[in-house]
Amino acid sequence: MPRVLISDAMDAIAENLLKESKIAVDVKVNLDQQELINIIPNYEGLIVRSATKVTKKILDAATNLKIIGRAGAGVDNIDLKTASDKKIVVMNTPGGNTNATAEHTLALLFSLIRKIPQANNGTHNKLWEKKKIKGNELRGKKLGIIGFGNVGKRFSEMCYGLGLKILIYSKYFNEVKDQHLNYQNANLDFLIKHSDIISLHCKANANNAPIITMEHLSKMKSNCLIINTARGNLVDESDLKKALEQNIISGAALDVFKVEPATENELFGLNNLILTPHIAASTSEAQIIVAEMIAEQFCDYFTKNEIINSVN
Ligand code: MLT
Repeated sequence: MPRVLISDAMDAIAENLLKESKIAVDVKVNLDQQELINIIPNYEGLIVRSATKVTKKILDAATNLKIIGRAGAGVDNIDLKTASDKKIVVMNTPGGNTNATAEHTLALLFSLIRKIPQANNGTHNKLWEKKKIKGNELRGKKLGIIGFGNVGKRFSEMCYGLGLKILIYSKYFNEVKDQHLNYQNANLDFLIKHSDIISLHCKANANNAPIITMEHLSKMKSNCLIINTARGNLVDESDLKKALEQNIISGAALDVFKVEPATENELFGLNNLILTPHIAASTSEAQIIVAEMIAEQFCDYFTKNEIINSVN
């Protein structure tokens, strides 16, 4: 009987589905690296979210591991090269949390443009800042989307419906632009100079270098808002701090950070910055979908030898 370890918190449906298919499952979360190294030889399968870092050291110890499943989209917490060298399959659950992430991005956008956190704080503190707080409307604004994968596409649809003008910068968009005639295909420089809002929905560069640095921030409109719900290394945090402090741009909202968990960060305390702790995909609905997807993919692998949504 194959044995699978679930090492990050996820919906119980994953464990239940695996057990129904006669796959043995242990759920052990919050393990440190050494604890994981000690027990990983006991498992043929490992299921993670983003907290477990599947490093080379762990893979070197994983003498029986055949498959790693990521309940989510990003696999940057897994050493893909080492996994491939060891012929360990790595799979994710594309699309499972797309809507949740797009909705959280929209929530951040509304929060920024209508100054909801400031209004909330002031009202709780008996300030009644009705005259002081004035927002802007989304309708008619230009939204630059960097990356046109599942989330970028869903977020574009939502925002187009709200009356925003959509600019897309994505290599992939070039291939499908004829199916999206309402969106403008833009290069990065054009998007940066002309957008009122910029939202990132792409993968990190291969060398992890940020896509947005001071060079780009300094060309943005002074009213520009930036939102990042993709990966923390896409925007240079020190440059963003300077740009927000010097009002080079108007505001930003981040759900992702260069170092997570972000319990210390130079960006903390800026009043034109909204921060959330990587919760864009954390809805009950999305967490059930990704747990169910990864469990079903594991069942197909162990019972039918089928590989679905492999990333390596
Ligand atoms: C993902 O890559 O799917 C997201 O970052 C969500 C997450 O797992 O926290």
